[in-house]
Amino acid sequence: MKKTSVNIGIIGFGTVGAGTARILLKKRGELESRLGFPLTLKNIADLDTERDRGIKLPPGILINDAQRVLNDPEIDIVVELMGGIHPAKEFILQAIRNGKHVVTANKALLATEGHEIFRAARKSRVDIGFEASVAGSIPIIKVVRESLIGNRIQSIYGIINGTSNYILTKMTEEGLDFTTALREAQALGYAEADPTFDIEGIDSAHKLTILASLSFGIPFSFKKIYTEGITKITPLDIQFASEFGYKIKLLAVAKQEGDTVEVRVHPTMLPKDYLIASVNGVFNAVYIEGDAIGSHLYYGRGAGEMPTGSAVVGDIADIAKNIIATQNTEYRTQTGLIQDTKYRIKKMEDVQTCYYLRFSAFDKPGVLSRISGILGNHNISIKSMIQKGRKLEKAVPVVMMTHEARERDMMRALKEINGLPAVSGKTVYLRVEGGNNQDGRHKG
Ligand code: HSE
Repeated sequence: MKKTSVNIGIIGFGTVGAGTARILLKKRGELESRLGFPLTLKNIADLDTERDRGIKLPPGILINDAQRVLNDPEIDIVVELMGGIHPAKEFILQAIRNGKHVVTANKALLATEGHEIFRAARKSRVDIGFEASVAGSIPIIKVVRESLIGNRIQSIYGIINGTSNYILTKMTEEGLDFTTALREAQALGYAEADPTFDIEGIDSAHKLTILASLSFGIPFSFKKIYTEGITKITPLDIQFASEFGYKIKLLAVAKQEGDTVEVRVHPTMLPKDYLIASVNGVFNAVYIEGDAIGSHLYYGRGAGEMPTGSAVVGDIADIAKNIIATQNTEYRTQTGLIQDTKYRIKKMEDVQTCYYLRFSAFDKPGVLSRISGILGNHNISIKSMIQKGRKLEKAVPVVMMTHEARERDMMRALKEINGLPAVSGKTVYLRVEGGNNQDGRHKG
């Protein structure tokens, strides 16, 4: 019998589950007229069936048993919105084995266990929708795997964690210290359950793993991604960055060069006139360069009930159209997830960028020449410098911007410099984008 509607079961009735349900229920009529067939929310499974999420659900929809969703022969699409690795992984694999298409927002799961899940989906000829896993409402997955299919992607720069962007924005605009800004972000409900994922760059690295895999065909390589968070950023460095004409952002970078791809997440100084540098608060942005398009910038809300729910519903609608069109007999190729790449991931020590360095040095004759001598011995060339104040008895900040240098050389040089008697404490370093090539590609 020909199918005339598509049934959906959601597992996980948290923030994103509630947003998804709200859109499916409130916009049922609009969705039906746009698609030409109805999307029916059959069940939502969550262990907590009591908490008021502010949505009036038709009776019998909310259940506490995920197995009923996974084993219901009438459910076509299982939407996993519970998060975490276990039992989300087992539930998804069970849904796939049962021939159900899957939609998930679970970036941590895909970044770490994506191979197994996509392999199983290919075997069972079902689709996996994961738009909501990266940059919330911004349809970046669709862009990379469908809209830009005619491009060779050259680079991606993303602000893909709203919490850390909110914290850095507050530190920049209001001079708050890191801890105070984090507390504000938590109070507003932006941070993940464990904020470590947000502030240590792990959430960004999960999302970058997915984007890099799609863009360059490399395996999901979460463990190989260099990841550094924002916990050591101080108002002092934000102020110096500003004096040099830069803003500090937690940037996720994937860049192809020859047969290698750099994949890294770390606080980065960006020229203030780059469009992406003006992305503030909880907003996300992804800047992409492709050989046919030149450059694009995508901007929008990266988290929250309705924005992320919108991304989930977009995936549900796509898969539902496919189900109706093919009546479940054909498998839609998971474009971009065929991992036959020629690229290998560049080791972080081989990456070359410009650097910002802040030394705490005693203002004595010869100190600067010792520092610059060590930098020179390691092939690091200084571009500009600021020294603030003069206190003979106390270390003062000496701040430098360098030309492009290799990470390995920089780490070796800093080790030597940190050992100098005239240098107090560890030198602060930040990587800089756009330090050498102010060519306006990113500019407004
Ligand atoms: N904690 C994430 C963020 C939520 O701050 O961006 C969406 O993944």
